[in-house]
Amino acid sequence: MSSPLDTLITLKYPLIQAPMAGVQNEQLTIAACKAGALGSLPCAMLSVEQVVQAIETVRSATDAAYNLNFFCHTLPAPNEAAQARWLACLKPYYDEFGLSAESPQGGGRTPFSDAMADAIEPYRPPVLSFHFGLPSQLLVKRIKNWGSLILSSATTVEEAQWLEANGADVIIAQGLEAGGHRGHFINDSLDDQMGLFALLPQIVDAVAIPVIAAGGIADKRGVQAALQLGARGVQVGTRFLTSHEATTSTIHKRALMSKQAQHTQLTNLFSGRPARGIVNRVIRELGPLNEYAPAFPTATPAITTLRAAAEKQNSGDFSPLWSGENTQYCREESAQSVIESLFDH
Ligand SMILES: Cc1cc2nc3c(=O)[nH]c(=O)nc-3n(C[C@H](O)[C@H](O)[C@H](O)COP(=O)(O)O)c2cc1C
Repeated sequence: MSSPLDTLITLKYPLIQAPMAGVQNEQLTIAACKAGALGSLPCAMLSVEQVVQAIETVRSATDAAYNLNFFCHTLPAPNEAAQARWLACLKPYYDEFGLSAESPQGGGRTPFSDAMADAIEPYRPPVLSFHFGLPSQLLVKRIKNWGSLILSSATTVEEAQWLEANGADVIIAQGLEAGGHRGHFINDSLDDQMGLFALLPQIVDAVAIPVIAAGGIADKRGVQAALQLGARGVQVGTRFLTSHEATTSTIHKRALMSKQAQHTQLTNLFSGRPARGIVNRVIRELGPLNEYAPAFPTATPAITTLRAAAEKQNSGDFSPLWSGENTQYCREESAQSVIESLFDH
């Protein structure tokens, strides 16, 4: 009988197209699967119905293995005072755009749940990956019973060991270079987190399960270096952001392909949790880390109003221009061409 690990081992390329909520849908998943990588579908911003629809679309396009990605944060209790402080902090910008600051609700990102498990179980997705730890032990057990391979991100050696002890089958070592949200879940000290070259070999030596390398990998040298350091595969995100199949906005793509992309920072302004993005006006003026940004994910709605107003004026000043540190090869091309370039000899 094949083990769930064979899902990864039988891929044409040891590559996971990183799940990237907000900038991709199932079209990138499908393109990555068809090109021989593990295509990922980010589900954190999708409803149960949308996830089911996307699974159907992927399954009708390819027989290849795919990865469904979920967040496992705990939603904070509603906190009107924290929202009021955040809106007060953003008020000068609301005034600048002539917007009224009403109380925005929600955060647009929901954690993995029993309802989601009920909906996806009939499909027995080959791979589930998690960000911010793992769901409850009951859910982990349920997922294992139906046979999905479980992946999760670690930003420290301690997190990798915790994930191994709590049911992960594969660790994604997320170096500090990586674009988007940091996956930390044991403590939120960014000082404890390391670049991939330091983190990866330490995690490889500390756990017995396979390790995938993520963060700053954008060409075949990066892939080879990660494999040399003991990774069984790589997870690449930023390089796919300018691919034809991604839904990245024109403003975001333009920034990724400009000199502006040389300067990224970890900012909590767009969600309440540190995530790496290209420095823009709002990061320069309020960040990168602002004490008034409310708990993840509730910082999002208030700043999204500004983002929409600025983007209408063709400006990315208030947009989350998520990006890793390595944008050297970001260019308009197909996902297949990205994937082949990471492995051709
Ligand atoms: C725009 C963007 C969105 C992301 N969204 C998610 C997500 O929804 N789930 C997740 O597990 N990781 C997410 N990540 C992190 C990636 O999984 C991965 O760690 C990272 O892209 C690897 O570094 P790189 O961007 O330098 O290739 C995101 C990254 C980016 C750039």
